[in-house]
Amino acid sequence: MCGIIGYVGTRDVVPVLIGGLKKLEYRGYDSAGIAVVNGNGVEVVRAEGKLSNLEAKLDDRKLHGSFGMGHTRWATHGKPNENNAHPHRDCTGQVVVIHNGIIENFLPLKQRLQKAGHEFKTETDTEVVAHLIEERIKGGTKFVDAVRQTLKELEGHFALVMIDGSEPGTIVAAKQGPPLVVGLGENENIIASDVAPLLAYTRNIIYLEDGEYAIADQQNVRVFDKNDNDVTRPPKKILWDAVMAEKEGYRHYMLKEIHEQPRAVRDTFNGRMFEESAQIYFNDLQLTADDWAKIKKVQVIACGTSWHAGLVGKFLLEDAARIPIEVDYGSEYRYRNPIIDGSTLVIGVTQSGETADTIAGMQEAKRQGAKLITICNVIGAAATRMSDGVIYTNAGPEIGVASTKAFTTQLTAFYLLSLYIRELRGEDVSVRKQGMHEMRMIPHRIEHILKHQEQHIERLAHKYANSTDFLFLGRGVHYPIALEGALKLKEISYIHAEGYPAGEMKHGPIALIDENLPVVAIATKTPVYDKVVSNLQEVKARDGKLIVICDEGDEEIAKLADDVIEIPHTIEPLQPILSVVPTQLLAYYIALRLGKDVDQPRNLAKSVTVE
Ligand code: M6R
Repeated sequence: MCGIIGYVGTRDVVPVLIGGLKKLEYRGYDSAGIAVVNGNGVEVVRAEGKLSNLEAKLDDRKLHGSFGMGHTRWATHGKPNENNAHPHRDCTGQVVVIHNGIIENFLPLKQRLQKAGHEFKTETDTEVVAHLIEERIKGGTKFVDAVRQTLKELEGHFALVMIDGSEPGTIVAAKQGPPLVVGLGENENIIASDVAPLLAYTRNIIYLEDGEYAIADQQNVRVFDKNDNDVTRPPKKILWDAVMAEKEGYRHYMLKEIHEQPRAVRDTFNGRMFEESAQIYFNDLQLTADDWAKIKKVQVIACGTSWHAGLVGKFLLEDAARIPIEVDYGSEYRYRNPIIDGSTLVIGVTQSGETADTIAGMQEAKRQGAKLITICNVIGAAATRMSDGVIYTNAGPEIGVASTKAFTTQLTAFYLLSLYIRELRGEDVSVRKQGMHEMRMIPHRIEHILKHQEQHIERLAHKYANSTDFLFLGRGVHYPIALEGALKLKEISYIHAEGYPAGEMKHGPIALIDENLPVVAIATKTPVYDKVVSNLQEVKARDGKLIVICDEGDEEIAKLADDVIEIPHTIEPLQPILSVVPTQLLAYYIALRLGKDVDQPRNLAKSVTVE
């Protein structure tokens, strides 16, 4: 996720910007840059790769000033190189912009501006913002008003910081989605993606809300809503230390990342899903209708949580593609002599893109002539470099060892891919449009779960934390969620847990059931709902403790279960993105109750780079 910092005050701005960007490094990035306004006008320095590369360039430039902005870029539109690194400029070089998020309507805006004679230098969506402001300034509008008018034209989710070298001393920052905070100092004001870089200067912070923008100079900060009305909001006093600031006040990265899921899912579908034409657009996926026509089977290779995402993917892709889909563990695939040829599409699913078992399987597939694509969260990771195409999950860096937002964004990527395959196969537009509409609602529905169920789940965690075993049950698309729920619980709480297809329970695990065994079941309204209810009755008849994740208002389940966790309804292929959230929270609060090291569980590493 990109990191943003803007400063206006009395200090030498370069160390402020670089120090701030260092505090934002944990968000992950592939390039960085700063813009400084001084007697020479606007000076921009950018570099690919780590901040040390930027610092080396700055050593040569001896840049000074007390007004500027800095950015770390996590690429979405355009390659992660110096040219696409922020800040971006208009044709005059005076209007400078940094940005986090996605401007969804950048393409028509860019075409319009190009027709009007604007020259674009980068592949980014961000650059349109600088040219839109320039266009208005050329027509006689003042910088701040030009920004106001420009913001009304932008669609998507973005945090923007903008300055104009010909009106130095004023920064405008706008938020529509990604976080943006303003720190109020003495004779200085500072804007950033989160509070971590601000704490060295002030503890008085204003959090911008969606649709708001702030105009800051050395003395004042004024906040406005989307209708340009003044917003009066007293600053909050932040007492966090630096580590707490990185976690944005959450106790653990895992909890922060669970709460980031609405944003992460949205960033994964934004800019790729176009409802009006019912089209899916993947900029890094080389898979045309001709390529697709040659594919006779799909093999998914992954490990751990990513393997569970692959199992959900099998349901979605098989239904869309009507060809066989196999899902393999990376550690099993290459040792089982798999049947691979030029008509095989292999999909590697890996958050880190560095998991040795997954990569070894992908290498074997490639060696035998398969077409290779990767669903990955890390730009330029090993798995992406060997692939013919990539679908990036824009989850942002995942720091907690237990994977949460990486998983829900993998499910999002699979769903988009299933819609894309339907498009390549010329399937009905109305099904795709309905699917896109439901997809767009998912972030709100995750927020709804977090708002209405988290405290209840925390109470359930206290009730069941001393159990020695758990059984997780699900059928169809929810069977992989049963596996994922069990994995999450065991990896961070060290409680033994098993995931099982509910219909298989009677073939063995039913022997485990007694009054001491909590059974977490997913029973939402799918075509197998009645079958799941029968399976749950089998649990109840043996005195098992039933905790059921079900649709809101399901009275049948309420009568049967000891405890229910209600989630909003959506179409079946998207339900796993919702049903997994309560299992993440349950695992988190049980581990917390037991005093375990949630973010760094024993014996586990975030990225397993050995076989
Ligand atoms: O980076 P990857 O997605 O390839 O990692 C695969 C597994 O190691 C990973 O999903 C692991 O199972 C998670 N820590 C589970 O929460």
